[in-house]
Amino acid sequence: MTYTTVLTETRERVGIVTLNRPQAMNAFNATMLGELFDAMEAFDKDENIGALVVTGNEKAFAAGADIKEMADATPFQMITEARVDVWDRIRGIKKPVIAAVSGWALGGGCEFVLSCDMVIASESAKFGQPEITIGIIPGAGGTQRLARLIGKNLTMEMVINNRTLSAAEALQFGLANRVVPVEGYLDAAVAFAEEIASRAPMAVRMAKDAVNAAFETTLTEGLKAEKRNFYPLFSTEDQKEGMQAFIEKRKPNWKGK
Ligand code: HXC
Repeated sequence: MTYTTVLTETRERVGIVTLNRPQAMNAFNATMLGELFDAMEAFDKDENIGALVVTGNEKAFAAGADIKEMADATPFQMITEARVDVWDRIRGIKKPVIAAVSGWALGGGCEFVLSCDMVIASESAKFGQPEITIGIIPGAGGTQRLARLIGKNLTMEMVINNRTLSAAEALQFGLANRVVPVEGYLDAAVAFAEEIASRAPMAVRMAKDAVNAAFETTLTEGLKAEKRNFYPLFSTEDQKEGMQAFIEKRKPNWKGK
């Protein structure tokens, strides 16, 4: 596929998608959103890929939805053109998605990061929901995912009063998994993703699905969802191989079956 607003690259078993509208701080216009999700879905289907990394550039991961594209929109257009619903495509990605964030992750950019599974932040990363400053509120999950992740009060401050979080604060409040130097931040994220991509693929898939269930349901239903994912793994060759390798004190040789 040839894309005009994202770049794609493969390193070992990691698929990397780079947002590439630097002239607009990687603001998401309709083209970039479509290409981003197309590229992610293609990596998700590729059995040679075990994990995805989505990144921007050093200065901006993404400064949100494209305000210039949105400025004259009517509610009717926002609904019929699925300008907000399209963001839900990330929920269909089965493989782990790691956001490698440097610079600004604002508005929809922050919401995209919140929809990823893990976050590697460079020391310059800044997270915010500044929609209030342009007369709207987050529309791609920011109010819900932030509240679940960092709690109500700080979410209120971010959403109502444009409070931004530094990389160190993002780490402190559980929005980032790791903070790394700006130089080499993408390499650090890819190394992190490579480790994940080297694990038994079906177990990784079931694990992601089970953890996500925790955000959807009661504890009782969540525990049932976990069991539904746990038992079938005993039908995989990789479960037999993983346990046999442990017993024989050797590294497992995963088959992805
Ligand atoms: C369109 C944008 C943009 C955006 C930046 N640009 N953000 N264009 N949509 N979200 C453009 C600028 O207009 C400018 O273009 C160029 O990128 C460089 O930006 P500057 O502002 O000159 O850079 P700087 O002074 O370094 O400030 C960087 C910034 C600032 C702090 C990121 O650009 C900013 O505040 N951007 C808006 C952030 C925002 O409000 N995001 C929320 C959007 S709403 P020109 O042509 O002038 O050079 C949203 C809702 C999602 O995301 C809901 C789901 C649909």
